[in-house]
Amino acid sequence: MKALAVYPGKPNSMHLEDVPMPDVRDIAGGRGVLVKVLRVGVDGTDKEINAAEYGNAPEGEGFLITGHENFGQIVEIGPNVPSTLRPGTYVVATVRRPGHSIYDAIGLQDMTTDDVYFERGINMCHGYLTEYYIEDAANIVPLPATLREVGVLLEPLTVAEKGINQAYEIQRRLKVWQPQRAAVIGAGTIGLLATMAMRLRGLEVMCYSRRLPPYHNSDLLIELGAHYVSSQQSSLIDASAKYGPFDIIFEASGFSPLAFQAAEALGKNGVLVLSSVTGGEKKVEVNADKINQGFVLGNKVMAGTVNASRADFVSGVNDLVKAEAFYPGWLSKLLTTRVQGLDNYSEMLRHLTEDKEAIKVYLEIAQA
Ligand SMILES: NC(=O)c1ccc[n+]([C@@H]2O[C@H](COP(=O)([O-])OP(=O)(O)OC[C@H]3O[C@@H](n4cnc5c(N)ncnc54)[C@H](OP(=O)(O)O)[C@@H]3O)[C@@H](O)[C@H]2O)c1
Repeated sequence: MKALAVYPGKPNSMHLEDVPMPDVRDIAGGRGVLVKVLRVGVDGTDKEINAAEYGNAPEGEGFLITGHENFGQIVEIGPNVPSTLRPGTYVVATVRRPGHSIYDAIGLQDMTTDDVYFERGINMCHGYLTEYYIEDAANIVPLPATLREVGVLLEPLTVAEKGINQAYEIQRRLKVWQPQRAAVIGAGTIGLLATMAMRLRGLEVMCYSRRLPPYHNSDLLIELGAHYVSSQQSSLIDASAKYGPFDIIFEASGFSPLAFQAAEALGKNGVLVLSSVTGGEKKVEVNADKINQGFVLGNKVMAGTVNASRADFVSGVNDLVKAEAFYPGWLSKLLTTRVQGLDNYSEMLRHLTEDKEAIKVYLEIAQA
């Protein structure tokens, strides 16, 4: 069967590989699930992997099958697979596999303290840009058939889900925390999904991003009942005076200086969630005394978030179902750029690297 792979360390090496068809018995304990891949989305991490800035092949192998934003349908199951997973069920598999820390041992590999991550399609484990994959049932989450069109958005949504779920978990310290106002920084795929998830939790949300409105993403935010503010119109501090004080700020712009502006804009008892992966060496001057004092006197928290646990995938399914009910048709508007078939990976990469209007580029690998 066909798969899309890279030679880690060699830039622009994405190519088609012929790989063996997996067998459900390859997973121990009768817990194997064989999945036909229907759609796979791509994001900045895939771009970095193809540019050889990130990613390693599984031990002893010369290539890495890429793709982590998966969506598929079960074809075959082992004898000990739970009854929620049956042939025909739509599923999404989680990405990170356990390493060696105590967190990995309890199924929270998203919280690992290891330096090496085992992530399907990213590092040391083959991904989902292929025709079929097998996985342990423990790492597979079922979706209702009503999510057939938008289920490929679950994995990117889990980035927001984990950050927001962590924020609520952290804020249990306050006993009576009732968040009302949130800010999301960055109106890309993650920012749009984070705004949706917080609207579904009943929050007033302001999204702060670069471009002047109106454009496709600002229109989508307005459809959710959120406010959109461009950094060309207002500073984040001024926007917080109008739309705050913010109980939660979710940062997803990829521009690290905004994390420190967000720290300054955060309301008392607030929580700031940082999700941007920033590999550069940017330096900025910050209002250090002001930020520090605000955190001390305001009992504020700043937390980083990466990857997602199985529980975040499950809450993501719930939010996708809810979003289809509250905002019908909204999620499918995020699926801007469909590329047909594994053979057309050059077109997929071109959209991923050059198309500034694309919200989600994805490969349609097979029909259900
Ligand atoms: N923590 C995790 O597990 C995880 C997983 C996946 C992704 N991420 C991170 O999430 C972040 C967002 O991902 P994405 O796919 O949504 O990226 P994206 O599509 O590139 O979106 C970034 C958004 O931020 C805006 N922005 C960038 N620089 C800005 C600035 N200086 N001022 C105001 N707005 C600015 C962009 O506006 P324009 O459109 O005008 O450029 C865009 O709307 C990335 O940094 C990525 O590393 C984290």
